[in-house]
Amino acid sequence: MKMIEKFFQRLVKYILSFFIMLFSFTVGLLTPRGQYIHSLICDYFGFSFNKTRLPLISWKKVSGDEKVTLTDLEISAGNMRVDELALICGVIRKEQPKGILEIGTMNGRTTLNMAINAPDDCRVYTLDLPAEGLEAAKFEISERYQKLVKKEQSGAIFLEKDEINFPEKRKITQLFGDSARFDFSPYENQIDLIFIDGSHDYEYVINDTNVAMQLLRNGKGVILWHDYRNGLAVVPAIEEVRKKYPNLEIYHIEDTTLAYAKIGE
Ligand SMILES: C[S@@+](CC[C@H](N)C(=O)[O-])C[C@H]1O[C@@H](n2cnc3c(N)ncnc32)[C@H](O)[C@@H]1O
Repeated sequence: MKMIEKFFQRLVKYILSFFIMLFSFTVGLLTPRGQYIHSLICDYFGFSFNKTRLPLISWKKVSGDEKVTLTDLEISAGNMRVDELALICGVIRKEQPKGILEIGTMNGRTTLNMAINAPDDCRVYTLDLPAEGLEAAKFEISERYQKLVKKEQSGAIFLEKDEINFPEKRKITQLFGDSARFDFSPYENQIDLIFIDGSHDYEYVINDTNVAMQLLRNGKGVILWHDYRNGLAVVPAIEEVRKKYPNLEIYHIEDTTLAYAKIGE
């Protein structure tokens, strides 16, 4: 019986993958899903483009094994892995920033978790591009990220929380706009940790890093980039950033898709 079951399972997988391949090599060629399948195949056989190449750094080095508190573990579109969320909160516990900026709010899951783990007197700014701002965005935003922009509400997770159980939400300030057009001047010299997780398109990653460099308090602090992984534009964008800021030592946090730099150690 088991043998027959296994045989049928294999047959179903064979038929499904046949049709998925058929899709990805025909109409799928024009869709992000089809293109993603091609990247997966190339990665699997060792032909990765935009391969990650930053030096690795350990979790312990960046977070010092700090204890963290997490909430809302369920992952929705655009959210990160729970271990990466925990690690970012660990970095916050270690660094004790007084000002945090997140570029790319989505549903606010990371924003709220950062606020919970930040010192009492910390302000957590989170910037998001509203759907109606897409047309006027300075650089092209690929379809993949446009989907994340087109949502009903930014920050729904912390907005829906009550202040009695989640007093940390008072630390959060929501900002709206395109990170390439937004006037960040009121926040200059006020940010100690910046999390770059807006559009992962090449120009935006470079732009958002320039913003980070402009905002850090006395030029010191931590920058984290999300989605540093094979095949994504974050990889060549960070290579460009390294050319522009040769003294910026950027690392890839091991077993994550996070890049990390601590300036002014
Ligand atoms: C990957 S999601 C962010 C996920 C969130 N940081 C988290 O950890 O759960 C990307 C977010 O960036 C926002 N975004 C995309 N392009 C942007 C831009 N040019 N300026 C500001 N926000 C942008 C999108 O609206 C979306 O909410």
